[in-house]
Amino acid sequence: MRPTEVTLVEVGPRDGLQNEAQPVSAAHKIELVHRLQAAGCREIEVTSFVSPKWVPQMADNTEVLAGLARQPGVRYSVLTPNMKGLEAALPTQVHEVVVFGAASEAFSQKNINCSIEESIERFRPVVAAAHAAGLKVRAAISCALGCPYQGEVSPDEVERVVLLMKAIGVDHCGVADTIGVGTPRKVQAALERALKHYPLAEVSGHFHDTYGQALANILASLELGVHVFDTSIAGLGGCPYAKGATGNVATEDVVYMLQGMGIATGHDLDALVDAGAYISEVLGRPSASRAGKALLTR
Ligand code: HMG
Ligand code: MG
Repeated sequence: MRPTEVTLVEVGPRDGLQNEAQPVSAAHKIELVHRLQAAGCREIEVTSFVSPKWVPQMADNTEVLAGLARQPGVRYSVLTPNMKGLEAALPTQVHEVVVFGAASEAFSQKNINCSIEESIERFRPVVAAAHAAGLKVRAAISCALGCPYQGEVSPDEVERVVLLMKAIGVDHCGVADTIGVGTPRKVQAALERALKHYPLAEVSGHFHDTYGQALANILASLELGVHVFDTSIAGLGGCPYAKGATGNVATEDVVYMLQGMGIATGHDLDALVDAGAYISEVLGRPSASRAGKALLTR
């Protein structure tokens, strides 16, 4: 049942940097993406087309995408919460767009300023227009394992949003632990609800590592056969509307674990570690990747 190959979606440039208080130049973001693709990342979430008033760090979205030397075989994606975002994203020629909803009403309001039902109505034309332009559409379902405002979130609440996303034609369903509270069996219970409605290849896990559970949660997901995960270089990340949540699981740590299990990801771990060291130096703080730090000082 355990997969022999895993696809990692590198979300460092987007989830990793969106919450960064200090300015990070477009040139540094572009260099990061270049290093990631050179290290074997084949799916890269580059930026977001959201309101610059809400998330100033992503305001240079078009500049970053325009500056990329794109590598054949690499798929680039961006977040588009509404038609305004999609219309701005389309000319930048990405392969995939991400709509992001939540399994909790409170988080939906805080993050995207509308209810779950309203978010689906906003996403409906985004999905249709993205498909008309030949793009794949991924959904992130935030707070699938717990919410900073509501607390517990049940698998029923997750399944409700999975069904709503499916009804509007979303191609892929990402189960997101925004605040990193999930533990392995709970993660499996949430993923199982997505797997009831989406094929195995179209369900993924997005685990923030706030409570140190992310690698265990990936292992639990692999037991179900799930083989697509979002990860973030140097363990960067966090959501501006989920206070205290730390970064995503570090790409270097996941690749180290999977290589040790004989599971292929296509990454060059040394090059990844260098990419993690690069962005950590830009940000002026140590990497949050345990494997990254260990391999650098080896
Ligand atoms: P709103 O205020 O409800 O939207 O925001 P609105 O349509 O009323 O527009 C208000 C203003 O925003 C207007 O500008 C619009 O033009 C502008 P003004 O007239 O005031 O100057 N606007 C936009 N500008 C640029 N691009 C757009 C856009 N849309 C409206 N696409 C909105 C709704 C969703 C835009 C807002 O709430 C927002 O931008 N939120 C940011 C949410 C966000 O980026 N969160 C972090 C990413 S999600 C995440 O990290 C979770 C994830 O990692 C999974 C997990 O871990 O859980 C994916
Ligand atoms: Mg996230």
